[in-house]
Amino acid sequence: MPRKIAARRSAIHGNGVFAVAPIAKGERVIEYKGRRRTHEEADAGDTGDADSGHTFLFTLNDEYVIDANYEGNTARWINHSCSPNCEAVLNEDEGDDRRLDQVFIEAIRDIAPGEELSYNYGITLAEKHTKELKKIWECRCGSPDCTGTMLQPKKDKKKKKKDKDKKKDKKKKKDKKGKNKD
Ligand SMILES: C[S@@+](CC[C@H](N)C(=O)[O-])C[C@H]1O[C@@H](n2cnc3c(N)ncnc32)[C@H](O)[C@@H]1O
Ligand SMILES: [Zn+2]
Repeated sequence: MPRKIAARRSAIHGNGVFAVAPIAKGERVIEYKGRRRTHEEADAGDTGDADSGHTFLFTLNDEYVIDANYEGNTARWINHSCSPNCEAVLNEDEGDDRRLDQVFIEAIRDIAPGEELSYNYGITLAEKHTKELKKIWECRCGSPDCTGTMLQPKKDKKKKKKDKDKKKDKKKKKDKKGKNKD
């Protein structure tokens, strides 16, 4: 089957990956390949760059990251976007060896030849997402919905907000009840 994608310079950052043939919604475009390394190995290693925000690491699961600096393929050039046309899908292996889990990049809408492929990296850091960190991980995807950073809101923060909103709603209802009584 002829290749549907090719890597070349991108307006977003460095190299990107572009469609060279129509890609249909739901199509599995490419596997994100690379060497499996433990989180400890990756953290201690020289391959992720915490200062520049440049990385070829992909968090595979709780045990491993995929390090596309080694044995990587074209998928490692796909850039992040806040309005992506692809998504990263985890394929969990049925056995116990978590190294065998795989990540595939799939189209979430039809993609025309010439369009750059992108997915949301879904990056959250263990530490607080400070202004400085958001700047290091600055997003230049160019989408009207761009948040300005590749860092995603932390889940617990969202949950905290939900809980806060729930409390507020409860209080409102209580106040209303009180008022109605008068
Ligand atoms: C997997 S690489 C993608 C290929 C990259 N363009 C390159 O040439 O090396 C991921 C890195 O590309 C850069 N990058 C990807 N998407 C970006 C975006 N939307 N805005 C700014 N930089 C981006 C960041 O440095 C990120 O850590
Ligand atoms: Zn963006």
